[in-house]
Amino acid sequence: MPTTMLTPDCLRAAQERVLPQLEGHLKEAPAAAQRLLSAMSYANLEGGKRLRAALVYATSQTFGASLDHADAAAVAVEFVHAYSLIHDDLPAMDNSPLRRGLASCHIAYDEATAILAGDALQALAFEVLANDEQLSVATRLKLVQRLAKASGVQGMAGGQMIDLIYTGSVEKLSLAQLQQMHRLKTGALLEASILMGCDCAGLTDVIVTQAITTYSEALGLAYQIQDDILDVVSVEGHLGKPQGRDAELNKMTYPAVVGLDKACEMREALYLQGMTALQPITLDTSRLQDLLTFVVRREN
Ligand code: IPE
Ligand code: IPE
Ligand code: MG
Ligand code: MG
Ligand code: MG
Repeated sequence: MPTTMLTPDCLRAAQERVLPQLEGHLKEAPAAAQRLLSAMSYANLEGGKRLRAALVYATSQTFGASLDHADAAAVAVEFVHAYSLIHDDLPAMDNSPLRRGLASCHIAYDEATAILAGDALQALAFEVLANDEQLSVATRLKLVQRLAKASGVQGMAGGQMIDLIYTGSVEKLSLAQLQQMHRLKTGALLEASILMGCDCAGLTDVIVTQAITTYSEALGLAYQIQDDILDVVSVEGHLGKPQGRDAELNKMTYPAVVGLDKACEMREALYLQGMTALQPITLDTSRLQDLLTFVVRREN
């Protein structure tokens, strides 16, 4: 089944809502630096499932925020994510020529422009959060803190470092180390998207926050396990990025470390864990359930 048939309504709605928002923040650049803005737009406006934006919107809606109050967070997480993909594809990292069905940013432009596009997108993400006057200063600060931690050495960048150190290594990671790497490089930003949605809604209930945190951890790890699995099993041309690249580069992935069957089993255990975590929440959590189902059933 193509993934489009699996796309939940809330993901489709987030895709439609966030695209003009992203576009709106990619309008201004010095005349002589238009090339940089063009590369930033190229990496943001075509393709992409917009799952992180959908998680922000779904969580904030679940806890009663208006969508307007979630726009800045949705844009910011998508900008950081796009930056991470641009850098991930660079020759110094995964050296990948294809992203979202198009030439990777460094191929469509050049390496230096791609590096700068990532840098500028990261800065823009924080500018968008800091400038949103619809949110209180305290909420903006909380969002900046969450996104900063999830992006830096204690999050995505730290996880990417571990990934690169062990790429091609003969020494296998232990399962605990592999899990930590995945939680950092991918889980952290997905978890932050969910918790930023809670912040936009002003959620303070400790029990509910704990339940959502458990859900977010399960979703974040399951996401990267499924990414690893799809690199092995997906139908050629379905991913919008090269298939089989992890094995070519001798990456530490779940299928490489524990085998494909066990990786699928672990993904299913996380699915159950995430769904179970939502049970004590008495509000309508159907959007969050749908997004977790999408994460583990998606085909690209
Ligand atoms: C790809 O992320 C990189 C990972 C963190 C696994 P996505 O699968 O969310 O990529 P897009 O945004 O839909 O292209
Ligand atoms: C990427 O992991 C995680 C990021 C922080 C971008 P991968 O290297 O597996 O992502 P893909 O498969 O290239 O999208
Ligand atoms: Mg990578
Ligand atoms: Mg990669
Ligand atoms: Mg991958």
